[in-house]
Amino acid sequence: MNFHIVVLAGDGIGPEICEESKKVLNRVGEVFGHKFEYEAQDAGGIAIDKYDNPLPDHTLKACLASQAVLKAPMGGPQWDKIENKKRPEAGILGLRKGLDLYANLRPVKLFDALKEASTLKPEIIDGVNMLIVRELISGIYFGEPRGIHGEGKDRYGVNTEIYRAPEVERIVKLSCELARLRRKKVTSVDKFNVLESSRLWHDVAEETARKFSDVAFEHQIVDNAAMQLILNPKQFDVLVTTNMFGDILSDEASMLTGSLGMLPSASIGGKVGLFEPSHGSAPDIAGTGKANPLAMILSVGMMLQYGFKLLKETQAVETAVEKVLNNGLRTADIVKKGGKTVSCAEMGDAVVTAIGN
Ligand code: IPM
Ligand code: MN
Repeated sequence: MNFHIVVLAGDGIGPEICEESKKVLNRVGEVFGHKFEYEAQDAGGIAIDKYDNPLPDHTLKACLASQAVLKAPMGGPQWDKIENKKRPEAGILGLRKGLDLYANLRPVKLFDALKEASTLKPEIIDGVNMLIVRELISGIYFGEPRGIHGEGKDRYGVNTEIYRAPEVERIVKLSCELARLRRKKVTSVDKFNVLESSRLWHDVAEETARKFSDVAFEHQIVDNAAMQLILNPKQFDVLVTTNMFGDILSDEASMLTGSLGMLPSASIGGKVGLFEPSHGSAPDIAGTGKANPLAMILSVGMMLQYGFKLLKETQAVETAVEKVLNNGLRTADIVKKGGKTVSCAEMGDAVVTAIGN
């Protein structure tokens, strides 16, 4: 089959890890008989430099006309002084909203070979396999009113956390459906004991989950969930939560796998899905060859799975990553003290070689 993919190569380490993930995708095409066509577009910092806009109209249009968007991390210190509305992050949020991607799936799975790369004890993280489902286009990230007002010492900043019942219902429904394909457990995380928006989340989540009698459903309050994630991470199967809590808890959970450099993500819900690593653009190591391309390569795996429904191909990517890790290949972020590291490109090449072999 033929697939048309818009590639947003991003900033910092973005272009390097993007190159590796395209190599892997091309190899999947060769082995399984697909053709992946890439259309490069600009968003984020590079688009600010070229067009004074982190998400130009033509970029969003091209994304909407594609079959999937492969996105690398965006942003960097050179754009830090710009007002929020024009920052690279605004481009990312605009993309999510523009493509109607209400669900962000962040699988947190420990590769056996990386047990020692985590700062947590091996017996705690052994067998960790959870899916964080983060609401992506509402909550405090998008709520109005927002802004900075006033002068001098009277200045104040305001943001609004808002959830509407249908927004909670659709993401909890999706989480229950995804849980059915896994261990059939959903944990909904909120702060209902303090926040009204969370009280609504709590109640609607419960009403929605009740319709899935074969799925075990529970609530956790976010501070407790943060603690449980490192106390006993194996208890989680699907963890569904709000935009901001999901942002925070997924960074925390990534450390169960050894590195944020291992965490892929899929954003779905609209017509066209977007696939990106969960980590940032790491400008400090850009161009040094030190970047870990695996989160982006695993995001390609998620594109094959959720974007194109190519399950054998997804499996091939995941198995290849597992193989190279079992063979001892490590980028700088997951290497043991004194161990040998490979470069970003060497890691990418190793995954390519492992596919179909
Ligand atoms: C993420 C990132 C983004 C977010 C930033 C870059 C806007 O941290 O995808 O987790 O906060 O959603
Ligand atoms: Mn984040």
